Amino acid sequence: MKIGYVQMAPVLGDLDKNIQTIERLLPQADGVDLLVLPELCHSGYRFESRDEAWETSEAISTGRFVEFLKTVCAERQTYIVAGVNERDGEKLYNSSVLVGPDGFVGKYRKLHLFMDEKDIFEPGDLGLPIFDIGTCKVGMLICFDWVFPEAWRVLALKGADIICHPSNLVIPGLCQKALPVHAVCNRIFVVTANRIGTERDLTFTGLSTFADPRSEVLIQASPDREEVGLVDIDIALARDKNVTPRNHVFNDRRPAEYELLFDK
Ligand code: ACM
Repeated sequence: MKIGYVQMAPVLGDLDKNIQTIERLLPQADGVDLLVLPELCHSGYRFESRDEAWETSEAISTGRFVEFLKTVCAERQTYIVAGVNERDGEKLYNSSVLVGPDGFVGKYRKLHLFMDEKDIFEPGDLGLPIFDIGTCKVGMLICFDWVFPEAWRVLALKGADIICHPSNLVIPGLCQKALPVHAVCNRIFVVTANRIGTERDLTFTGLSTFADPRSEVLIQASPDREEVGLVDIDIALARDKNVTPRNHVFNDRRPAEYELLFDK
């Protein structure tokens, strides 16, 4: 399987420009089976107000950006995970969609909101779904979700082989240190598509990363350039949960000792 990320700088509030950028970069991802784009990559991130965020949001069932993704996936016979500023009734969610050759597959709504996102978006209410696309099972997390090991574990326990992680990371290099750790602790593939560029007071930190179930960073992008990264992987590696012949990352757990985790 060929998996990849797109690292780019979305322009705040400019859907046409963001679609053009993705279209320009797509030829670099020829032959990819699953491609991950950054968080909120059609709308930008650093909204001044909820009203400004509302202007660029879209309903996933009718929005132009998701329609664009459907067309691309059908033409290129591929799957794409991308961050979407999702409007649902009067509510906004920081979401990601999984789209494939036959159309929309599923979505995830960011559970753990970062900083001022709390003034704009509702916390996710769809739990931690995984999606079977035939060749592998896909889970999604979004940016700051990275700091919660429980979320990675739940997706892995549900059977995710790969976790796609659209991001707009702002703390240089911090998450990138954790990604191979989440990968090895769960014996899964992790692909983080981060953005670059500056919006208002925030500079985004690039270093999009692909880590494998042995904690190897297979590819990593620059901190500040537009890039497409692609890797050929054997998904079977994520189905071998043994760290040693006698140690299995799920079967060796001691849940009775973790009761504190279930406190509300
Ligand atoms: C983030 O969650 N966008 C840092």
